[in-house]
Amino acid sequence: MRVRELDVNEIPPIDLLLLADPSRKLIEEYVRRGTCYIAENNKELIGVYVLLPTRPETVELVNIAVSENTQGKGFGRQLLMDAIQKSKAEGYKTIEVGTGNSSIGQLALYQKCGFRITGVDRDFFIRHYENKIFENGIWCRDMIRMSQDLF
Ligand code: COA
Repeated sequence: MRVRELDVNEIPPIDLLLLADPSRKLIEEYVRRGTCYIAENNKELIGVYVLLPTRPETVELVNIAVSENTQGKGFGRQLLMDAIQKSKAEGYKTIEVGTGNSSIGQLALYQKCGFRITGVDRDFFIRHYENKIFENGIWCRDMIRMSQDLF
């Protein structure tokens, strides 16, 4: 797997980004403000992530996705570790990520890669998304905020 920054003249992989975030509007906004990285395996696009600087010395992983037919093979973990390493190399002191209360697999993955829960943004998904989201039989209402120190 090779990870590279998306060139300015390249179109962001919206179908992949939509796997992690159902809001096309929010995606377009943070892709414009942040940096989009893509992962290729034998020249085939298999993953994406987006880093967005938020506060001084802090970056947020606002989107991470692996193509559906390549999920569960370890690429997500590799991609997440790459995002952590790049953030550290660029001098950020903290990396943050947020995920839904219903995203059991993602909550597991982030914690396995060193993230810890910092807070809960109650009703975030009710405030920001028009349609109700269900995952793993759980109503996705709250945003679980997580972070990791990069030193
Ligand atoms: N309980 C415990 N661990 C779990 C789990 C669960 N229910 N579900 C997943 N995991 C673990 C796996 O066991 C694995 O851990 P390991 O490396 O110790 O074996 C790890 O989480 C992830 O495995 P990996 O194969 O690297 O993940 P992936 O390639 O499928 O990528 C996502 C993970 C989340 C990026 C991918 O599933 C995806 O694109 N999902 C849709 C988009 C999305 O939800 N993005 C995140 C938005 S917050």
